[in-house]
Amino acid sequence: MPSYDVIIIGAGPGGYVCAIRCAQLGLKTAVVEGREALGGTCLNVGCIPSKALLHATHSLHEAQHNFAAMGLKAAAPEVDWAQMQAYKQDVIDGNTKGIEFLFKKNKVDWIKGWASIPAPGQVKVGDTTYDAKKIVIATGSEPSALPGIEIDEKTVVTSTGALSLPTIPKSVAVIGAGVIGLELGSVYSRLGAEVTVIEYLDAITPGMDGEVQKTFQRMLKKQGLKFVMGAAVQSVQTAKTGNKVLYKLRKNDKEEALEAEVVLVATGRRPFTAGLGLEALGVEMTGRGQIATNHYATNIPGLYAIGDATPGPMLAHKAEDEGVALAEILAGQKGHVNYGVIPGVIYTHPEVASVGATEEQLKEEGRAYKAGKFSFMGNGRAKAVFAGDGFVKILADATTDRVLGCHIIGPAAGDLIHEICVAMEFGAAAEDIARTCHAHPTFSEAVREAAMACGDGPIHS
Ligand code: NAI
Repeated sequence: MPSYDVIIIGAGPGGYVCAIRCAQLGLKTAVVEGREALGGTCLNVGCIPSKALLHATHSLHEAQHNFAAMGLKAAAPEVDWAQMQAYKQDVIDGNTKGIEFLFKKNKVDWIKGWASIPAPGQVKVGDTTYDAKKIVIATGSEPSALPGIEIDEKTVVTSTGALSLPTIPKSVAVIGAGVIGLELGSVYSRLGAEVTVIEYLDAITPGMDGEVQKTFQRMLKKQGLKFVMGAAVQSVQTAKTGNKVLYKLRKNDKEEALEAEVVLVATGRRPFTAGLGLEALGVEMTGRGQIATNHYATNIPGLYAIGDATPGPMLAHKAEDEGVALAEILAGQKGHVNYGVIPGVIYTHPEVASVGATEEQLKEEGRAYKAGKFSFMGNGRAKAVFAGDGFVKILADATTDRVLGCHIIGPAAGDLIHEICVAMEFGAAAEDIARTCHAHPTFSEAVREAAMACGDGPIHS
């Protein structure tokens, strides 16, 4: 029977990163993956392809809206959807092949197929059973559709179908104003579709800083997205005739029947653990269907779990960090993840990024804090690239000045946030950031000015 020190099930960001680090730390490692390509949801039908479409459609938006102002004259750009899809596929292939290369370089074996765990210490793929001293479940998540709504991935789609629609629809109804709904809603809105986002709650992007939520929604509305807030979608049905989907929503105790060419169901994701045999093994689960863990160990000796299949934010980088920490633990080191400093980014235009506490959370905790805010209107670089809308807000302890959180909506927010992540890892005060020289002209000066706003005040506002 072939045997390994570690067998990891799933080659998404959690699994492949864990495998590479295990191998680097001297463990004989294999990964079981049933998809044709490595990289999991993130590389194949998630983060990476959506970023390709967001980049392409943002470029279209720039050409349509800002080229003329910069003195660039060109014929109005036309969209070649087939070519945009081919570009997206090239981006996916380049990334997934990259993981294959890294596996070979680090001597990680890829066992192709779908795994089950017939007994502790054993992984079965097809007709072969492998021995493993340690098994890691990194099987990720899948879209959680609404009850009674049938997904065909053609007209009623999840994010997977929305990335590969055969044609650009004239209208899209997006159920759920979360990250997926707003990113993919933005893509189709820029491509000319009429996009209506239906959200159950009163605010978009649940859990995000309230001020950012309001500013973000205002900006998206300006870009043409329509919102129906406080409304629950009750049913979705493909019409028997014509090219449309009928859906019903309930708002203020009234039912409304509407239609769209495509309905995107973006109401969250759930752990994907089917077929592993966890119930027969007696693996303890949480009430939300996640694998219960304690420092990544399940209740079965030698069986571990990381990423979306376990509690915590469903983010690729959270899974990656857990993969590294677990590899270190399995190699006898002390792996650790600081769950207080996990950034979240929404890759719309402008980008939205946050880390640490929101004002709402600090108020609820009764913690005295100060908020230093700086608008990108006061940032020379942002104004030069039509990106003056938005702000940086740093939250710091009222007494110690220690940075507790940061919320950014504006240019390159997803990159700027990492200055704050590093500051928080070092337990920095806002003054530490304020006294650090930042190159001019950069967007990062807005972060420094927000830090200054926690003290004696910013210069440029
Ligand atoms: P989400 O949990 O972020 O948002 C779902 C939204 O749907 C919520 O606002 C909820 O109130 C609403 N909703 C639920 N049922 C509804 C109904 N019947 N009618 C109307 N509204 C309803 O989920 P989403 O966007 O599907 O994302 C899933 C996961 O994937 C999240 O954990 C997210 O963080 C992750 N993700 C992260 C990305 C990033 O980091 N950029 C990109 C894409 C996904």
